[in-house]
Amino acid sequence: MKILDGKLAAQAVKEQLREAVEGLKAVGKRVPHLAAILIGDNGASATYVAAKVKACEETGFTSTLLRYETSISEAQLLEKITELNNNPSIDGILVQLPLPAHIAEEAVIKAIDPAKDVDGFHPVNLGKMVQGQPGFIPATPYGIMLLLEHFQIETAGKHAVVIGRSNIVGRPMSILLSGNNQPGNCTVTLCHSRTKELEAHCKQADIIVAALGKPEFLQASMVKEGAVVIDVGITRVKDDSKKSGFRLLGDVHFESVAPRCSWITPVPGGVGPMTIAALLKNTFQACQQRH
Ligand code: GUN
Repeated sequence: MKILDGKLAAQAVKEQLREAVEGLKAVGKRVPHLAAILIGDNGASATYVAAKVKACEETGFTSTLLRYETSISEAQLLEKITELNNNPSIDGILVQLPLPAHIAEEAVIKAIDPAKDVDGFHPVNLGKMVQGQPGFIPATPYGIMLLLEHFQIETAGKHAVVIGRSNIVGRPMSILLSGNNQPGNCTVTLCHSRTKELEAHCKQADIIVAALGKPEFLQASMVKEGAVVIDVGITRVKDDSKKSGFRLLGDVHFESVAPRCSWITPVPGGVGPMTIAALLKNTFQACQQRH
């Protein structure tokens, strides 16, 4: 069993981007600028956004963090997004999800200029991805594709099972893996909460992407010998022995599943760092297109 080390692969992506940023500076061009919006005091969201801002700094990007109280209205938030859309110094806009219940996620996503939608959640970018046209690919599935590429995992002709059909991860992942590209060319089964005989589907998979958000859901009995397992889950579980009061669990029961795998991602240090690396790549691309 080998580890799909997301930290290592993300470092390689960031190093490439750092050099590319130096290239922009050398010819007197503006460096990429990401604006991140964080609403409320969700601890996990705050941690993710802080990691994104830190990664921008490490890579030589400019970043602006905009924090608002949970009480911000949808109209106020949409107005802020319009300001960022119209601000020529901003290349990428990211609104950290989930949003408070009184704000419609769909309206917020649609308000972002598709040319600055570095999360790839806008219907225009999702449509381009479905058609195999260049655009912004959602950061987590894009990061997983970069991870498979980095470790040269063979995907063509393989059977991939994706568990979870969210707009952010599962559904785009199923489209990317089935696409006529490398990595890609998989035969894909998309499983979800209404799937019957989920275990039997998983057991046939050469590649499993677990993205359902249930800690330690995938057990050894569900995994074929030699499978590649990608764990997208990252749930905080109460743990008084930790200083933070919690520990992080993936959707895969790592201890029992790992010995059966050819490759597996750890949690943390697998998909998480790759999501950030992919976001940076999208932001660099947005900047280049706007130059
Ligand atoms: N919440 C969970 N994952 C993501 C992500 O990739 N982008 C944003 N904006 N919010 C998220």
